[in-house]
Amino acid sequence: MRQDMIGILDLGSEYNSALARQIRAIGVYSEVYSHDISPRALKEKKNLRGIILNKGEGDYSAHRSIDELGIPVISVDEDEYTDSLYSQKRLEKFVLDTCCCETNWNTQNFIEDQVQLLREQIGDSRVLLALSGGVDSSVVAALLIKAIGERLVCVHVNHGLLRKGEPEEVCRVFGEEMGAKLIYVDAVDRFLDKLKGVKNPERKRKIIGKEFIEVFDDEASKLCGIDFLAQGTIYPDIVESGTKAGKAVKAHHNVGGLPKRMKMDLVEPIKYLFKDEVREVGKALGLPDSMVYRQPFPGPGLGVRCLGAITRDRLEAVRESDAILREEFEKAGLSGKVWQYFTAIPDIKSVGVRDSARVDEWPCIIRAVNTVDAMTATIEHIDWAVLDKITNRIINEVKGINRVCYDLSPKPCATIEWE
Ligand code: XMP
Repeated sequence: MRQDMIGILDLGSEYNSALARQIRAIGVYSEVYSHDISPRALKEKKNLRGIILNKGEGDYSAHRSIDELGIPVISVDEDEYTDSLYSQKRLEKFVLDTCCCETNWNTQNFIEDQVQLLREQIGDSRVLLALSGGVDSSVVAALLIKAIGERLVCVHVNHGLLRKGEPEEVCRVFGEEMGAKLIYVDAVDRFLDKLKGVKNPERKRKIIGKEFIEVFDDEASKLCGIDFLAQGTIYPDIVESGTKAGKAVKAHHNVGGLPKRMKMDLVEPIKYLFKDEVREVGKALGLPDSMVYRQPFPGPGLGVRCLGAITRDRLEAVRESDAILREEFEKAGLSGKVWQYFTAIPDIKSVGVRDSARVDEWPCIIRAVNTVDAMTATIEHIDWAVLDKITNRIINEVKGINRVCYDLSPKPCATIEWE
């Protein structure tokens, strides 16, 4: 990175990410460090212009040596954030006046820097990327296409649990419009055969995860001369995995999944970006809004929304009802407002009437939640007319559904997903 930067020493505060984001909002790059980062590692950060000790209950004894770095240091308290104007002014004064940082942290500079860094790291080698079509892997793909063109090999695995139109969109955007070298793997039968009759949600998740790695590995073993594996790790994955003084919020979900024999070095070009910054970079690289502003989607996909043992007909009903929900939320102006929304279909049937005859069909559950960090969630109060329209469309257009229910349960105690 050529940009000036401010280091935040995590002494156990909950607000490390928030502070980093505040500094980046000033236009200056910022990183969070563990309280016991070595003085040598700090010295190697050539563009470090200042350090903020972000107080908590952590120990900062390892850091007597930061005074030797010869750069300004301030200490901030957890309470200052209750007065955001004061803290913003104080931060600006420290970052701009005391540390004399240049305000050069922006999307365009990030892209230029990363393209150069990627070229230096990768040299003449080739890079492999599992491209799901989610915002993170899509932005990584777009950056690498810009940096190394056809030496990036993208593998898109269709496990049959993606939303309507997603595999087609990945192939169109990357294969056709961006000219990526894209291997499309139709693994639908392989996944659904393995999942046949499996009711337990955790077993379903395990099978989907394991099978994904095997399919990806099969494709990788057909290729030769690949030295690097690209991953869409983003900064919250790293910060939330714990900078040691703080509590780990969740395990780093991108690490540890690949077979040991896949001896490739990692390429993680967006690992210092927050989600909104990833989206900005995606937009600047020309990705469509449908990819850049995609709502969160679980790794096991529709597999955890086709409740119980997955059958092809019920899975199709989940996919179709989800597509209707998305379309109607978009029309009602809710797609940018509601954090996550989807349908789930349980493996039960109830009596209904169609053409004067009894029909036994499934109910479709609509879930629409708002949250900041997915740890707790509240329910979106949807306009009755919108729910009415969605209900009518689902019961008339989706095969096998005769009832629609709206889930009013907050998290806790209900989780966001049903499985
Ligand atoms: P829960 O259901 O735990 O979901 O309240 C919280 C958030 O995590 C997503 N989710 C998953 N994401 N793999 C993922 O990558 C999973 O197995 C998984 N389960 C839940 C969920 O969609 C929500 O955004």
